[in-house]
Amino acid sequence: MEKLIITSADKAGIYQEILPQIEGVISYETDLIANTANVAAILKEAFDFFWAGFYFVKGEEAGQMPGEQAQLVLGPFQGPLACTRIKYGKGVCGSSWKQKQTLVVPDVEKFPGHIACSSLSRSEIVVPIFKKGKVVAVLDIDSKDLATFDHTDAQYLEALAKMLEKLF
Ligand code: SME
Repeated sequence: MEKLIITSADKAGIYQEILPQIEGVISYETDLIANTANVAAILKEAFDFFWAGFYFVKGEEAGQMPGEQAQLVLGPFQGPLACTRIKYGKGVCGSSWKQKQTLVVPDVEKFPGHIACSSLSRSEIVVPIFKKGKVVAVLDIDSKDLATFDHTDAQYLEALAKMLEKLF
């Protein structure tokens, strides 16, 4: 695929168009960085999100409790400069990792411990990616507007996260 094709105007329609295209793109490539870089680019192009990208769980060794040494480390993204490391349970990303669930934050200022990589970010969604029941990465998307993300985003981005599991 050389060009993203989007004809829908509504959010669900756009997700329904881009998910099969993402599936196509990642089916031709096995490299994690290459694929997650293209996924961040597709999300940015499709929705013009303020920030869209990945944090990878790094430093988790066999036998350790999650978070003892491990941290989230910045991966491929599109958008402004971002924090490179996030601790287990910290911020929206670290909380999604700890709680093993998607977090939709309509107003980041009301989320205790939110990590403000950019003061322009107002709302956020973080979706964990699992491998054998453990969180191996999170997909983080930020918006400059309040309450950008809802159940529709969660539903489609969780389907995307599931699609990406095989890369890890
Ligand atoms: N706001 C996030 C940190 C990552 S940046 O927004 C890219 C958080 O609280 O985890």
